[in-house]
Amino acid sequence: MSPLSAISNVFYDASVMTWDVLLTMANLVRFSRPVGKVTPEGHPGYGGYWPEYKPPQEGDSRCSCPALNAMANHGIISRSGRGIKFSELNHQIRTTYNFGASFCSFVPHYAARMLNKSYNKDTFDLEELDLHNGIEHDASLTRIDSALEPNQSVRHIPYIEELLACASGQDAEGKKLLTIKDMSKILGKRRAEARANNKDFTLSLFHKVFGSANSSTMLTIFGGRLDDLRTVLLEERLPEGWESRVRKPYGLTMLTFNWTVLPVEFGIRESDWAPDAKQKAKAVQGSENGEA
Ligand SMILES: *[C@@H]1O[C@H](CO)[C@@H](O)[C@H](O)[C@H]1NC(C)=O
Ligand SMILES: *[C@@H]1O[C@H](CO)[C@@H](O)[C@H](O)[C@H]1NC(C)=O
Ligand SMILES: *[C@@H]1O[C@H](CO)[C@@H](O)[C@H](O)[C@H]1NC(C)=O
Ligand SMILES: *[C@@H]1O[C@H](CO)[C@@H](O)[C@H](O)[C@H]1NC(C)=O
Repeated sequence: MSPLSAISNVFYDASVMTWDVLLTMANLVRFSRPVGKVTPEGHPGYGGYWPEYKPPQEGDSRCSCPALNAMANHGIISRSGRGIKFSELNHQIRTTYNFGASFCSFVPHYAARMLNKSYNKDTFDLEELDLHNGIEHDASLTRIDSALEPNQSVRHIPYIEELLACASGQDAEGKKLLTIKDMSKILGKRRAEARANNKDFTLSLFHKVFGSANSSTMLTIFGGRLDDLRTVLLEERLPEGWESRVRKPYGLTMLTFNWTVLPVEFGIRESDWAPDAKQKAKAVQGSENGEA
């Protein structure tokens, strides 16, 4: 990296964080958008009408992130999942999911840096985001670790079913909800199992928090609602009539997101699961060696 781009990155980071704080404060003093009016007029999904869903075709590019794959499956970004501009991703994530503008700017800038690409000039294919220990990391809630399944667009249905099955909350109508506690519990279990079963397992503190962050989008953007999450995670499709559960006028900011992400991460007790996971690994090894 040239000294000039290093300086411009520092300047960018400082300004995006300041912007995030300002948006967070603006959210405090303005009314939330009314239910049914979260997706802005003139954008895909306005009024709950999402563009036609088509599962990926042979040769299309998909990645480990269900939310981005869903955008490609609805044609909100290119259906092929190829040749996507970083700036386009920024704008479409904002209107589709109602993340804050600062957040939506930060993530594609981060991805461009990770891929040594220019945010303004270059494009990417969804699968490029799966660079191991860039954004993609072990102990996923929806994918087998990349050492064991290099194709990270492949959903692991048993993990997704287990995640959905651990929901312990309820909304006013008695519908099931995933809670912060549920999320900490299942993340701890995944980490312990991945550590025991994948000899190449790695998970830095940065990727732990990153994993808690993408899991927390299920609690914020999707409000923890099981019926919606089932569709998004299993089919990578946005339910008809769906809109983001974040109704703040300036969207979900990074600062506000901390109020969910940090309790999820601090609530994780990987050691609660460790003995169980080790026994399971032993059993797998035993059966591979032909033992009963
Ligand atoms: C980006 O550049 C760095 C430093 O030159 C290099 O170590 C890294 O492997 C590159 N990443 C990719 C995805 O090309
Ligand atoms: C978070 O998202 C990345 C990229 O899609 C994925 O590799 C990672 O496993 C996810 N983390 C969890 C805990 O699901
Ligand atoms: C990865 O998996 C997806 C979904 O199962 C499949 O459509 C795609 O062809 C696979 N890609 C590669 C490179 O094997
Ligand atoms: C927490 O907030 C800070 C300040 O805005 C931000 O830099 C950081 O990315 C946030 N962390 C998470 C996990 O959202």
